[in-house]
Amino acid sequence: MAERDPDPYPKIENARSLRSVAEAAKACHACDLWSRATQTVFGEGPRTARVLFVGEQPGDKEDLAGHPFVGPAGRVLDEALAEVGIDRKRVFVTNAVKHFKWRASGKRRLHEQPNGTEIAACRMWLELELQLVKPDIVVALGATAAQALLGPAFRVTRQRGTVVSSPLAPRVVATVHPSSILRAPDQSRDAERRAFVRDLRIVAKLIG
Ligand code: URA
Repeated sequence: MAERDPDPYPKIENARSLRSVAEAAKACHACDLWSRATQTVFGEGPRTARVLFVGEQPGDKEDLAGHPFVGPAGRVLDEALAEVGIDRKRVFVTNAVKHFKWRASGKRRLHEQPNGTEIAACRMWLELELQLVKPDIVVALGATAAQALLGPAFRVTRQRGTVVSSPLAPRVVATVHPSSILRAPDQSRDAERRAFVRDLRIVAKLIG
């Protein structure tokens, strides 16, 4: 059996610099996901961002590009942000888990949900992002992000769109993950998309 790395977290040269933290995260081996992913996908956006979005984990496109929310789910997010008047370039976007977890299906790589151990292993990076950006509002996109920020009892279906507090951030609003809109049946997709926009409008109002 392979021996486990005694300190799987790489050394951070300057923990007060987002760039330095992102650089260190490239070599993270705190769970096994790094071994099948192309690269670490760290959060991106200005350090002055007032809103920080947390998704689940990079998808296939994000894994290859090395940037969060640049694939189909990112397009849904971008369109909804534009609709409520939030400029994507002014928000920070990240994920609860920073490596793509997947299983093969023929030539395709299919998303697999990260487990509690993987989410916990990645928590340090999310905490550093939150400490450095200090957003006024954190938006959890989907159950994985919501539970990473608000605990396992949190239910997005019941509590979406409400402002709650977390030890990690004073104001958190949870909503669905944009890929759930892509997966929704044709007849309910538009209603799901409108409900997502409604939740983001709450965030837009909070930041004035
Ligand atoms: N889904 C996520 O949760 N994050 C991404 O970056 C892309 C898809």
